[in-house]
Amino acid sequence: MSQFDLVVIGSGPGGYVAAIKAAQLGLKVALVEKDPTLGGTCLNVGCIPSKALLHSTEVWHLAREGKKHGLQGAEKLTFDVAAMMANKDKVVAQLNKGVEFLTTKRGVEIVRGLGRLGKPGQVLVRGASGDRTLDTKNILIATGSSPIELPFMKFDGETVISSDQGIALPSVPERMVVVGAGAIGLELGSVWARLGSQVTVVEMLTSICGPAYDPDVAKAAQGAFEKQGIKFELGAKVTGVKKSAAGVALTADRDGKVLEFPANRILVAVGRKANTTGLGAVEAGLKLDERGRIVIDGHFKTNLPGVYAIGDVVAGPMLAHKAEEEGVACAENIAGKHGHVNYAVIPGVVYTDPEVACVGMSETEAKAKGLEVKVGKFQLQGNGRAIASDATTGLIKVIADAKTDKVLGVQMVGRGTSEMIAAACAHMEYGGSAEDVARTCFAHPTISESFKEAAMAVSKSSIHSL
Ligand code: NAI
Repeated sequence: MSQFDLVVIGSGPGGYVAAIKAAQLGLKVALVEKDPTLGGTCLNVGCIPSKALLHSTEVWHLAREGKKHGLQGAEKLTFDVAAMMANKDKVVAQLNKGVEFLTTKRGVEIVRGLGRLGKPGQVLVRGASGDRTLDTKNILIATGSSPIELPFMKFDGETVISSDQGIALPSVPERMVVVGAGAIGLELGSVWARLGSQVTVVEMLTSICGPAYDPDVAKAAQGAFEKQGIKFELGAKVTGVKKSAAGVALTADRDGKVLEFPANRILVAVGRKANTTGLGAVEAGLKLDERGRIVIDGHFKTNLPGVYAIGDVVAGPMLAHKAEEEGVACAENIAGKHGHVNYAVIPGVVYTDPEVACVGMSETEAKAKGLEVKVGKFQLQGNGRAIASDATTGLIKVIADAKTDKVLGVQMVGRGTSEMIAAACAHMEYGGSAEDVARTCFAHPTISESFKEAAMAVSKSSIHSL
């Protein structure tokens, strides 16, 4: 007889949310975690600690501009990296406890150790206190991802670092070179640039923030970051590291020309890879794709009966909230319900200042799909609240279907857009039109009124722009 209805391997936002949902639905659940704390990459070394550091450095940055607001002595302020790190660790520890509290109170049994697939219906757990075999009706693999290492410049934790070390440096590097202008590169590049590091971001593509963003939106974000002192070297493919007078230098190639960027620290943020090592995937016959991700069907089922997978370890955007949605839907399916994830409405956010956010299709993607679109844009310079809060950098862009007016996508650059994008998600989830947004009452004065104005601009009826 099975001890459990479901054993979840991995306690990141995908795994622990699935465990809670399954327990809510009456299943007997175990959650296996190899690390000492729950929460996975997102909580321990990803989303949460980086947000704590972004907040601390934003406070520093804003305080230094205090003179304009009548604050005296702002120019004499100093900061303490160790105290910022301690605050970050406190935030993480509080949430670690929160996740443990929520899961255990729901009746989920937490099993510490490295989980691997055993015989069908079994998960073997190797923990500090010995081995344990869990008999279960269903298994959910939510083992997440880890930073990709460039083969010619391995992580050494000192000069060549991953995001894991990039959120825990003991001091501000004089020069930091960031490889990759995705979310990690931009967020951690911002943290260290605000603290005074000379940051250069080297990116293979010709625009930043990744392919989800339209060039005009990415350009607006890039301009804002450049004003903050971050340098961008686009269209440059990294080739290696060499010793230089200043220590080391990153080498890159742009159209056959060799480029060199001296650095004290090189943060490599070129994407993440699925975690399947130690899982016993090969022995169990689990099917992986060409990029090492677990292959699933439309219902999160792997090729092995009773074995499911979700989150970063399967295809799709590597985002905590995507993993959470999949966790809920998968738990519902296992409990005999009909879980579903709407992959057309998964927001993406880069938590810099200004923040960069998007949901749905970009103008470029919609056009590439042969759709006829109407676009409305609103520059934050025209928004009262933005002017009153020193937040006029950025724009909102609404992409709507030219025939039906249905909102296909929204892109945003501006302070607080990580929160504003939620309104766009809700409208899109209900299949709303640009006119629906335009006719919704937004509080005044808020920066979010710019979203309404951009929706009005789709039909050339914006009130606060020409
Ligand atoms: P990413 O895939 O978002 O960006 C990596 C960038 O590196 C790409 O623009 C790529 O063109 C560039 N690149 C790759 N190889 C290169 C080379 N040899 N030379 C120069 N440039 C090169 O990856 P990132 O930022 O490491 O993030 C990993 C994952 O974690 C992503 O899926 C991301 O969405 C997710 N994440 C999301 C966050 C958020 O939502 N705020 C925060 C942190 C991570």
